[in-house]
Order: sequence, then structure tokens, then C-alpha cells
Amino acid sequence: MATQSTGKTTATKKSAIDWETGRVLQNGKYTIEKKLHIGGFGVTYLARERDSDNLVVIKTLNEKVRQRRDFAKCQQDFLNEALRIAKCTHPYIVRVNEFFQERFLWCIVMEYVEGITLAHFVEKKGAIPEAKAIKYIRQISDAVMLVHARGFLHRDIKPLNIIWRKHQDEVVLIDFGIAREFTPNLTQIHTQYYSDGFAPIEQYDKRALRGAYTDVYGLAATLYALVTAKTPEAALIRDRAILKGETDPMLLPQVLNPKLSDTIQDAILKGMALLPENRPQSVADWLQFLDKSDESPHVPTPPHLPTPPLSAVGMDYNKLRELLAGGMWEDADKETTDLMLAVSGKEKEGKLSLEDVRKFPCRDLRTIDQLWIEYSDGRFGFSVQNQIWRQVNKNYEEMGNIIGWRRDNNWLSYSELTFDINASQGHLPTWGRRGRLWAVLALRMRKCSL
Ligand SMILES: Nc1ncnc2c1ncn2[C@@H]1O[C@H](COP(=O)(O)OP(=O)(O)O)[C@@H](O)[C@H]1O
Ligand SMILES: [Mg+2]
Repeated sequence: MATQSTGKTTATKKSAIDWETGRVLQNGKYTIEKKLHIGGFGVTYLARERDSDNLVVIKTLNEKVRQRRDFAKCQQDFLNEALRIAKCTHPYIVRVNEFFQERFLWCIVMEYVEGITLAHFVEKKGAIPEAKAIKYIRQISDAVMLVHARGFLHRDIKPLNIIWRKHQDEVVLIDFGIAREFTPNLTQIHTQYYSDGFAPIEQYDKRALRGAYTDVYGLAATLYALVTAKTPEAALIRDRAILKGETDPMLLPQVLNPKLSDTIQDAILKGMALLPENRPQSVADWLQFLDKSDESPHVPTPPHLPTPPLSAVGMDYNKLRELLAGGMWEDADKETTDLMLAVSGKEKEGKLSLEDVRKFPCRDLRTIDQLWIEYSDGRFGFSVQNQIWRQVNKNYEEMGNIIGWRRDNNWLSYSELTFDINASQGHLPTWGRRGRLWAVLALRMRKCSL
């Protein structure tokens, strides 16, 4: 897969602040193991943290940027960005551990995600099967929706900025290096920087408006690359051809991979519409095009549903949204349980059967999960619990210990739980406190690519 070459000349240039293997930082707290990458703005190192003996990734500004006259401003921007990512706690966004200053250089310490980037993955193994690619794209879309909810854009979504976490078979979004805070509908001067093939046309124009639709293009182009193993034609080349009255030179995904469904091809093309106004305007809107094929056939989708169809059965999630937005955690938790019953038509019975959970509509599960994630800054939600569940090898008691449903080897009663944003990660919602059903819900999440 073609990738943008980024300042390789600086790689060979030695300088007093180019850290070699064995170099200690912060009075020995970190030791550099090796340089991972020198990019357009940053330089990334693998390092070991003394106290935990864990590997971490340290990113700082590269030599080229350090020599700029406006270095202080660049550094401030870099740090502000990193602070914003640090606020986006999400299972599919790289975790920021801390910041420190080494001499005059600010550094970000991140978790080390063991695995390879999706760019390398495709390079090694070829195109990814459709269902798996959609699963990864949904994970990244979830992450991007949180970024958008926080009021900024990623602007550099591409396979090279997504790491495949090999043990969990899930993906993690990295590299917010060029993300800039944005005010919707206000033209701002953006740093002109793009990755050919994955950047939409507006990123070639310093003064053009950017919005959530800018990241929609990056997501759709990434999906194109995953299922075809080819980088899509650059937006600028497509635009020039079309202006000359020629046909779009971008090869259709199905031409490169005839096995692809019409649904995925349609979703890719909608997301990669050249003009921003022709694209879905939000990630949620774009995801609807991928939703078409993933609902259980027995659940009819009423044709009159308002857009975006957040529910496969016409459920209204506004009350849950309001409770979460108002920080009414306990009421939101109870509402979640009521909604789960209502979606399955089991209000009277008051509980779901294994079969109900097995068939629970993906769209509703995703909506409930996203609302919890969005309003808790990634702290709560079924998929947060699911990640912990998988980390402890599906040991339910161990999961209960970590997310705070158990204390001193005992399950807590409902009234002993913490309905507060400061509760343990994954503490809420509490629907899964029914052992066997939790395991089935976890399976359903897997099926729904949550
Ligand atoms: N947290 C991380 N865990 C593992 N590898 C990482 C991590 N962050 C970055 N990398 C590796 O370093 C490369 C460059 O990092 P990135 O943040 O994308 O910097 P750049 O701004 O130079 O593109 C990535 O493509 C990836 O291979
Ligand atoms: Mg990068």
C-alpha cells in the first residue's frame, strides 16, 4: 500500500536530542528501547518504564519542527492536542499515560499497542474479508464519534494510523498529530497536510471548511483499502479528472474485489463522495449504509423511521440521552434496563431470555452503548465492559472485581453500587449483573461488531 513519505531526510541527521537506545529520560523513569518512526511532525520511540517494567510509546516533535521559528507555538499545539486525546478515553483510542518535559521538549507517553498497523496487515496478508473489515471500521467509527462529540476532528484516518491489537483482534486509532479543534461552519486556516488517497478534497484547500464529513472520507477510504488492498486514487486526481469531464478514475471496489457486496461498495462510495455536501454529514449517518446487512431478518425496520435510525424497532432513546447528559447515572441505568426489555417486547415478563439476548438488534445495542460511551467519556458502556471481560479471559468474577461489582470476594447489591462518573471503568450500566446473560450479550456484541 502506498504511503506518504514524510521527512525521511531528517532520519539520518544526528542531533543532541535524537535519542538512542539506552538513553534515560526523567531521571531514569523511562529508558529508550528504539526509535519507531520519524514522521512529518513527530518522532516516536519505544521505551520501557522502570517502575512497571512495561513498554510504552513516547512521542515528541521531530528535528525539522524543532528548527522552525514558530517551534514554541508548534509545541503548544502539539501539547493541547495531546491533552484533548487524553480526555477521549475509549477502548479503540490509544491511551495517553502522561506528559513530561525533557529539557525543552515536551513528550507524550502512551500505551504501547502490541501489533502491526492495518497498512502492514494488508500488505502482509492481502485484502481483509468484508465482515472483518466492517468490524474494524465500526470500532474506529465508534472512536471517531467520541472525538467528534468532544468537538474536534482526527483528520488523518488511514490504515497506517490504526494498529491491530493482535491478542484481542481489535483495532486502535493513533496519531492525532494534526487534529485541530474545530468550530462547525466556521472556516479556519488548517495546517495543510494530507495523506494521498485518504484525504478528502477539502484538505487540499487551506481555507476550505472541515467537518465530521472530512473524517467520514478517511473512514470510507480506509475501508476501501482494507477490502481491496489498494490505496484509493487521491481526491485531487479524481477532482481534476471530473473537472475535465472525464469519468472518476477511482476503480470501483468491486472491480478490485468482485466478492464484495453491493452494500459495502455503496457505503464506500457514499463516504468517498468528492464534494463534502454529497457525503453523509456524520459518522453515524455514514454507518447506516453499512447497517443494511447486519440486522437479524426477523426484525422489520419500519419505513417511516426518522433518520438516523438509531433503532431497528422504532425505540426512542431520547430519555436515555437526557438522563446521561444530565449525569443522572442511576436513572440512566434503570432506563437502560427498561429499554432492553422494551426492545425485546418483554416489559411484562421483566426479564430477557437467552434467545432475546441472542437476537437483540445490533442497531439498538450499538445505540445504547454509544450513548453511555459518549456521555461518560468512554468510561461506561457495554463495549467497555466487554473489553475488560476479554482481557480477563472471560472470567466473570474477575471482571466483577475490576469493574467494581464485587468487593472482598462478594457481589455487591444494587444499592451498594456507585452511580457516579468516578466509579470504576465499566461499572455502568449494570444490566450485565446476571452472569449467564452477560456472556450471551458479550457474544451478541461480537456478532454485532461492537
Ligand atoms: N501507541 C503505539 N503503540 C505501538 N506503536 C505505535 C504507537 N504509536 C505509534 N506507533 C508506531 O509508530 C508509527 C508512527 O506513529 P504516529 O503516531 O502515526 O506518528 P506520525 O505522526 O509520525 O505518523 C505508527 O505508524 C506505529 O507503527
Ligand atoms: Mg501516523
